[in-house]
Amino acid sequence: MRGAGADQISVLVRTMLESKASKNLDHELLRVGFAFHFHRGVQITVTVSSINKMLKLHATDEAVPVTPGMQLVEVTAPASSENYTEVVAAMSSFCEHLAPLLHLSKPGISTGVVPTAAAAAASLMSDGGGTTL
Ligand SMILES: *[C@@H]1O[C@H](CO)[C@@H](O)[C@H](O)[C@H]1NC(C)=O
Repeated sequence: MRGAGADQISVLVRTMLESKASKNLDHELLRVGFAFHFHRGVQITVTVSSINKMLKLHATDEAVPVTPGMQLVEVTAPASSENYTEVVAAMSSFCEHLAPLLHLSKPGISTGVVPTAAAAAASLMSDGGGTTL
């Protein structure tokens, strides 16, 4: 993370390895990436990962990316009905800082760099003929 305030956030970086099977058990999926946990008023988790198909059982070394050159960025925070408003405000604020740092794309279509989280969401949700994963 770069930009104003970035060095004030203490971030824990963890390597992450997650394995799941597809519904029809046709192949295993391997998710590879990083998880960042930090407090910014609320506890926020950001994961940056790629999803890979494992063509041979348990062959993690031979996994093939489902969307080559693209990574999935997820931002999550635990919330309850009591603190929902506070969590939403913290998430929105964080996403406004994050949005200009991301080059957004959907499979087969690049949606470019966007200045705000709202523009990012609109861009990713627009009907761009992408394939649903
Ligand atoms: C909001 O509530 C959830 C569920 O109880 C909790 O895990 C989370 O830490 C709370 N967040 C804040 C900022 O209080």
